[in-house]
Amino acid sequence: MKTIIEPFRIKSVEPLRMTSKEERREILARADWNLFRIPARDILIDFLTDSGTGAMSSEQWAGIMRGDESYAGADSWYRFKERVQELTGFQNLIPTHQGRAAERILFASLGVQGKTVVANTHFDTTRANVEALGGRAIDIPIPQALVPGEDHPFKGNIDLTRLEELLGSDEPVVCVVHTVTNNSGGGQPASMENLKATRDICHRHGVPFYLDACRFAENAYFIKLREPGYQNRSVESIAREMFSLADGATFSAKKDGLANIGGFLASNDDRLAQQEQELLILTEGFPTYGGLAGRDLEAIAVGLREVVHEDYLRYRLAATRYLGEGLVKAGMPIVQPPGGHAIYLDAGSFLSHIPATELPGQALACAFYEDGGIRGVEIGTLMFGGTDPNTGEERTAPLELLRLAIPRRVYTQSHVDYVVEVAHEVAGRKDELRGFRIVEQPVHLRHFTARLAPV
Ligand code: F0G
Repeated sequence: MKTIIEPFRIKSVEPLRMTSKEERREILARADWNLFRIPARDILIDFLTDSGTGAMSSEQWAGIMRGDESYAGADSWYRFKERVQELTGFQNLIPTHQGRAAERILFASLGVQGKTVVANTHFDTTRANVEALGGRAIDIPIPQALVPGEDHPFKGNIDLTRLEELLGSDEPVVCVVHTVTNNSGGGQPASMENLKATRDICHRHGVPFYLDACRFAENAYFIKLREPGYQNRSVESIAREMFSLADGATFSAKKDGLANIGGFLASNDDRLAQQEQELLILTEGFPTYGGLAGRDLEAIAVGLREVVHEDYLRYRLAATRYLGEGLVKAGMPIVQPPGGHAIYLDAGSFLSHIPATELPGQALACAFYEDGGIRGVEIGTLMFGGTDPNTGEERTAPLELLRLAIPRRVYTQSHVDYVVEVAHEVAGRKDELRGFRIVEQPVHLRHFTARLAPV
């Protein structure tokens, strides 16, 4: 087979700014070793997130010009609604400014206070929205998901035995969420078989089943590649089948919407949707724009068509795999197999001399920045640790990872080659790397704003 190439050419470019290692050391200290605090102009390759950082296509920019900014009933709303409903089949649709707004409205309407939400793995904002409303978030990924080096085609799957146990117990579960792909669990896909079995168990127990569908297209393409019976199906039809299993979905259009902002909350529950709409009007906006401009709705409508193109998805997964293979060659252990949108370095085992409480993922993140101006994000105890709101205990994360997330259609293969060169440099001095302690932190989502200091 021929080389998989970027299936686009570049029409508009943004210059990158080079910095020296000395400058970067100062920048890190000024940012209190929290990479979220570094101005983007001081970053060379920004792998902090794949969220809202993608490049839009010429058709999306054309949509931006078509955007209808009417307060009520804009044309853009109808085009957005038509595409979302064609893809998902849900009757009720609420546009939101991003995924977490959909999560907050959903959990508030479901009434999670004193109740439990179960997921393969809650993403950080999802967990925080459950906990901020007084609910409990329980993660039940399959056991293989917690073994970074173990290869498994669908590490995003839910542990069905534990799900059955939980729903059969007196745990007051209000909703089960399948995150596709499982971001905090390595960007790993869930199989259709597991989605179906989850749906069946939920329905038997009368518990609503939701998709956190941020990366539904990447998940659908993994199903096409890996799950028997799906090889000859289009990604569009696989995605529709995934949505057809759920009672509703939350979605951040900043990922597989190929847009810079936006999201939605959708369901087939008319009574719940009524309540959700009231909350939407209170804090987001009128139901036909929900906190977005008409032009954003257009960009999402077009993005949701482009994202299921198979030449795009083939390139997307190949680019991520290429980065993963390069990092492994540099001697860095990663969560296997490579995920859809990101590579997750197993910092816990790579920097085994740094204990979880001293944040090995953050140590590795800072080293990538110092050596090459590359920004990733720690997904470990800095993100998920802290004081348990229920028990008051200090918790550490199950895995200490550094995520390098790849923005969509933004970087070329030589950018990735450069990242791999930097990885070799970091690997060469890994014994020198030291941990961090937290000097100042907020109650929720501490990784965004915490101040750190080297141990
Ligand atoms: N669910 C998942 C699985 C996510 O990855 C995200 C965001 C959200 C929900 C929330 O969506 O940002 O639009 O409010 N993930 C980004 C990331 C921030 O970097 O992984 P949002």
